[in-house]
Amino acid sequence: MTNGQGSRAGAPPAQSEGESNLSPRRRAWAEANIAGRTRELIERDAKVFLHQSVSTPCMSAVKKAEGIWLEDFAGQRYMDFHGNNVHHIGYGHPRLVAAIKTQLDELSFAPRRFTCEPAVELAERLGALAPGGLSKVLFTTGGSDAVEVALKLARVASGRVKTLSCWVAFHGAGFGAASVGGEQLFRSGKLGPLLPGTEHVPPFGCYRDPLGPQHDGRSPHGAECGVACANLVRYVLQKEGDFAALIAEPNRAVPYIPPPGFWRAVRQACDETGTLLIFDEIPTGLGKTGRLFACDHDAVTPDILVLGKALGGGVLPIAATVCRAELDVAGDFALGHYTHEKNPVTARAALTTLDIIADEGLVENAAAVGAWALERLYEMMQRHEIVGDVRGRGFLLGIELVRDRDSKEPASEAAEAVFYAALERGLSFKITMGNVLTLTPPLVTGRADMERALDILDDCLSDSAAL
Ligand SMILES: Cc1ncc(COP(=O)(O)O)c(C=O)c1O
Repeated sequence: MTNGQGSRAGAPPAQSEGESNLSPRRRAWAEANIAGRTRELIERDAKVFLHQSVSTPCMSAVKKAEGIWLEDFAGQRYMDFHGNNVHHIGYGHPRLVAAIKTQLDELSFAPRRFTCEPAVELAERLGALAPGGLSKVLFTTGGSDAVEVALKLARVASGRVKTLSCWVAFHGAGFGAASVGGEQLFRSGKLGPLLPGTEHVPPFGCYRDPLGPQHDGRSPHGAECGVACANLVRYVLQKEGDFAALIAEPNRAVPYIPPPGFWRAVRQACDETGTLLIFDEIPTGLGKTGRLFACDHDAVTPDILVLGKALGGGVLPIAATVCRAELDVAGDFALGHYTHEKNPVTARAALTTLDIIADEGLVENAAAVGAWALERLYEMMQRHEIVGDVRGRGFLLGIELVRDRDSKEPASEAAEAVFYAALERGLSFKITMGNVLTLTPPLVTGRADMERALDILDDCLSDSAAL
């Protein structure tokens, strides 16, 4: 049996992070749609890169990325409603490109032991923007590394080792991040053993909550939603009493929206047990959910906040660990002085990205257009029997396909079919957990483009009914 979030005993790990790059449907789509220079490049790529699930062999090749669009060598264009969540301000934003060029002329690198203006300014800016006065910062190149820093900091600050996190969550590919992550694909079999002391609980998620009441995303949360899950967190934290930290995504990327009161209850349980709360906002931070940080919706402040992805404006890699000033207690240790820790160019990219997000009202756009899109998706759900659930906040939207609304058996085949049909019509997105069509458009997406994307999806869902 599979449940869409696991795999059969002995079978390959569940493709929870995206559509399989080895499926017959992928091959058929590539045969029909990929030719010429795009095909040549994919073949060269497959020869030189290590193969791994979710990346190589690649689906296509990009010649141009601009705004919300990707374009291959044959001129085939895709609205990119995935973008790894890096493209909040749209690809190749001219203001960002100009700022990076100017910075390259002024100062291109700062080696360890030397600071520089853009890095200090960025740390100050993040401190000013972060919720609840979090004000101490450390930069890394990637999100997974920033998670490692958060985990190390939690150990040093608490004097404890264990972590609690959620099954099915993704926190990055490094050993520490994969250990607190809960996805089979990054933890299973040959990769082990992972870090000891990393315990897990089921995550909130009312459509398939294994502990509490279940309902679709259109129905409002009830008083009992998420209560059992929060109680389990409290129970585990209290039972063992020696957790350094709880790490979680405040808004699950699947997506799942936390029930009201869930994070307040967990925050309280952390406080009662001396457990630090780490929020991983690598994909959700900087406006994806229609607020600057996903945790703003719940008015809950973590002790440590992890940011990444869109921080570099979709051009340069930079991530950040931001924490309470009182956690600055690791002066005698090395939490990770990454080579590009204070890189002036990546810092400039981040500063300019934050300026663009504010000046162009992108968070507000994600909130408004996202709310409209969610209503349209609810309406589509009424017409398409295959849609078992629709969930979303801002520009983090999920459409869960099921073979039967009562049994909720995942319609993974259909999800793949819809995905490739949408690609053919110029819309790219990601499949999560095998059957959730996950749309994460850039924050610059206007109402007209959103409408166009949902029209494509609507048509593809109609076609999938014939499967
Ligand atoms: C929630 C979450 N945490 C951490 C990461 C890891 O970030 P990176 O790929 O930059 O290492 C990701 C990346 O997808 C993520 O979605």
